[in-house]
Amino acid sequence: MAFIPLDRPIRAGIIGLGRIYDLNRLAYVDNDGVDVVALVDANPARRVRCQRDWPSALTFATIDEMVASGVEVDAVEVLLPIALHEEGAVQCLDAGWHVNLQKPVTNDLASAERMRANVNSSGRQLRVMENYLFYEPLERLKEIVDSGQLGEVSGYHLKMVASGRGGWDVPGETYERQFEQTRRGRGALFFDDGWHKLSTALWLFGPVREVRAWIGTTEIIPGIEIDAPTTVVWEHENGIRGVWDITLAVDMYLRSDYYTNDERWEVTGRRGFARVNRCTGRGIQQPSLEVYLDGEMRAYHALNDDWASSFRESGRHWLGWLRTGEGSLQWNIDEAINVLRFALGAYESNARGGTGVKPGDIH
Ligand SMILES: NC(=O)c1ccc[n+]([C@@H]2O[C@H](COP(=O)([O-])OP(=O)(O)OC[C@H]3O[C@@H](n4cnc5c(N)ncnc54)[C@H](O)[C@@H]3O)[C@@H](O)[C@H]2O)c1
Repeated sequence: MAFIPLDRPIRAGIIGLGRIYDLNRLAYVDNDGVDVVALVDANPARRVRCQRDWPSALTFATIDEMVASGVEVDAVEVLLPIALHEEGAVQCLDAGWHVNLQKPVTNDLASAERMRANVNSSGRQLRVMENYLFYEPLERLKEIVDSGQLGEVSGYHLKMVASGRGGWDVPGETYERQFEQTRRGRGALFFDDGWHKLSTALWLFGPVREVRAWIGTTEIIPGIEIDAPTTVVWEHENGIRGVWDITLAVDMYLRSDYYTNDERWEVTGRRGFARVNRCTGRGIQQPSLEVYLDGEMRAYHALNDDWASSFRESGRHWLGWLRTGEGSLQWNIDEAINVLRFALGAYESNARGGTGVKPGDIH
């Protein structure tokens, strides 16, 4: 069913008012193209707190209550824990609402395929948001790669160090849901946060032919494990190879307004390299993007490199898309399933002792 763009401000609901709501809300604040008309969370204190942002919005404890109320809604922002993504998204599509869903799409392929079938039969749009593709230093990195100035690309290197000190306050129950995910075999570093890193590889260099992974685990406090050290290598269909290394630095202080994640993205070409020095945290205090060519380093000093801006731009892209239907959703359900296959391919490789796995062969 063809999508018909909406020719009036979007009537929106926000479902899940936990830690990441504070950044997702930025797309809706001071935006004449949208009215937030409904808020949903099981936690009454969060409903009260967030209603201060949208005093005229109705509040509900569950999606069922919101559906039953008959409130008129065009699209919803689904910010639920990953294990509830399928159930929540399907309820919303069934209610006739377009859905902007947080990543990872879901934990396994069968669940993602059920979602795809539901999207196709619903006639509604489901987007799996990927805010890193709206982070200006990474957008500029892609422009530099696509311009050919680095010469033929010979490799992609990603680094991620999770530190245990610094950053924003994270509610205990948010952490508990992350640890539940780890117990399901979907760790916070490789699967939840790492989803973004795998996304950037597909965005920059296209489909992956083969992935090999060695996914480690570290007990940080008794009974609580984190999925590092982890190393993943892969080869794209165009022959470009990627390497991604995840390390834990439990006692390292990292200045951050958000999670304490020290990240690096580096593309090496035949003539030079381009590197994004940070994103979520404020680790390296040099410009967020640098390009080395012909013996000279060019540094970008005026980029919008606050991680929060990627949420605002990603959300605004979605809300704008609903008004025009033009361009890529970044990502639609098919693209999100490709990211999931990449992640599941890495898990399969790890289970097989690090041998090569084709993401397209995952069932
Ligand atoms: N894009 C990013 O960079 C990024 C960063 C962090 C988290 N996330 C994703 O955002 C999502 C939410 O993460 P979070 O950190 O905000 O989690 P959270 O646990 O802090 O918040 C989840 C909220 O959902 C509510 N909730 C749980 N079950 C519910 C139900 N059945 N009905 C109504 N409300 C319910 C909880 O009360 C809580 O307020 C996850 O998918 C996570 O992977 C994305």
